[in-house]
Amino acid sequence: MNRSDAPEMILVLDFGGQYNQLIARRVRENHVYCEVHPHTLSLAQIRELAPRGIILTGGPNSVYGAGAVTAPRELFSMGIPVLGICYGAQLMAHLLGGTVETAPTSEYGRTEVDIVGTDSPLLRGIPAKNVCWMSHTDYISAPPAGFSVTARTSVCPIAAMEHASRRLYAVQFHPEVMHTEHGTEILRNFVYNVCGCTGTWHMGSFVRKTIEELRERIGGGRALCALSGGVDSSVAAVLLSKAIGRNLTCVFVDHGLLRKDEGDEVEAVFGSSGTYDVNFIRINARERFYKKLRGITEPEEKRKIIGAEFIRVFEEAAHEIGAVDFLVQGTIYPDVIESGLGKSAVIKSHHNVGGLPDHVDFKEIVEPLRLLFKDEVRAAGRELGIPDDLVDRQPFPGPGLGIRIVGEVTAEKVRIVQDADAIYREEIANAGIQRGLGQYFAALTNMRSVGVMGDGRTYDYAVVLRAVATSDFMTAEAAQIPWDVLSKVTTRIVNEVRGVNRVLYDCTGKPPATIELE
Ligand code: XMP
Repeated sequence: MNRSDAPEMILVLDFGGQYNQLIARRVRENHVYCEVHPHTLSLAQIRELAPRGIILTGGPNSVYGAGAVTAPRELFSMGIPVLGICYGAQLMAHLLGGTVETAPTSEYGRTEVDIVGTDSPLLRGIPAKNVCWMSHTDYISAPPAGFSVTARTSVCPIAAMEHASRRLYAVQFHPEVMHTEHGTEILRNFVYNVCGCTGTWHMGSFVRKTIEELRERIGGGRALCALSGGVDSSVAAVLLSKAIGRNLTCVFVDHGLLRKDEGDEVEAVFGSSGTYDVNFIRINARERFYKKLRGITEPEEKRKIIGAEFIRVFEEAAHEIGAVDFLVQGTIYPDVIESGLGKSAVIKSHHNVGGLPDHVDFKEIVEPLRLLFKDEVRAAGRELGIPDDLVDRQPFPGPGLGIRIVGEVTAEKVRIVQDADAIYREEIANAGIQRGLGQYFAALTNMRSVGVMGDGRTYDYAVVLRAVATSDFMTAEAAQIPWDVLSKVTTRIVNEVRGVNRVLYDCTGKPPATIELE
């Protein structure tokens, strides 16, 4: 999106806080477009972006410590409203002549806060006594000249401060975190009351504009999209199909490691009898993948084989299609932010349908979703009329069931895990509890154990059920599934899925476990 399409923009400058993406999401929930950039952005770059307001995030440093990350003091005299959060608040205080020190008592978690600045535009409508989320050891002990204190807690004398005429605001607590009772209202007050935004960010207009822009950019060119059947690539494909119709070819590689009936479901939506006017190619490569995976048990090796084979199959299809002008990728905003802000240690080598460009003959990459968070991608999908079961689909890893089958992958094991997983999903849906679950699935342990069925001994596989609550998939807690649901799923799996005589529930969080088994 270019600047003229986003006249109302809030800029989040990231100082390394854990909640930087959350701030942007909360602002966007208020229908104001928001971008996250590193704190190293220069004043000229900031002017170029022309934000209506700037939010400084939290971060792990001390403003007075060696190597503290900082910002130019002139940031506060550009005439653009600034809201500092936690470290951002301390930085504002420090750079403008206030004092920041180590607090006598740290504050972590839910904290009662008293609002004392009744006429503050930032805190308008917020009850005098409420609860916020704190996470700090340093505190502002003296505000800069001209600032007034607008909130405090029992141990933090400056929980919020402001210089209303300069439109500078600071909160020690985290308004972006759900546990801050009126956090969303505070952010809304900032963007509407302080920055003067009117709320122009709506998914309907984003979808319309994106289609127009794609049509203009691609014109009569040809585009190729690797469709996985997941939300991101599906929404990207539909946007492209609305823009360029039959000039788009979608290639769907069925590696035989999909959930039960998933391949047919994708074909029903995108194939010749589906709703969209695209060229759809389904490649059934199941045998090929199973053959490559024969005898392989090490998780990373499995991941690499599946990823490499995927590229090979896709390449072969692309070769038949011939050179294209554009390769479509379903990259979304968290990927963009993460790649811009440094990467963390590799725990697992991820395989995405996005990892293809080195091997395909194309001129440019199109990433129509690169500005959207996951929930916004789903909203865009709904605007585009994509069926709910596809739009609401939970994340599914590129290597598919290959990493939900511990040890060697075989066609027989795929059948077991597909059937068990279908039963589990069906019963979760029957119980109506899917909304609270970030991800839930059945996996197959590599363990066989002794059981008794009828009058006979069995020696069969154990299926493990997993369900996690998570907002970002970086950390997760094992979800508490009602016992009667687990019990029903267990009975159905052992009765209906041949080769299973035991069902286990995974109670481990992440960390120490990961969400997937491999
Ligand atoms: P883990 O198992 O690392 O998973 O806790 C975190 C989230 O990432 C998904 N996942 C993947 N997604 N390609 C993907 O597109 C992959 O190779 C991959 N591995 C894990 C996983 O399903 C969970 O949502």
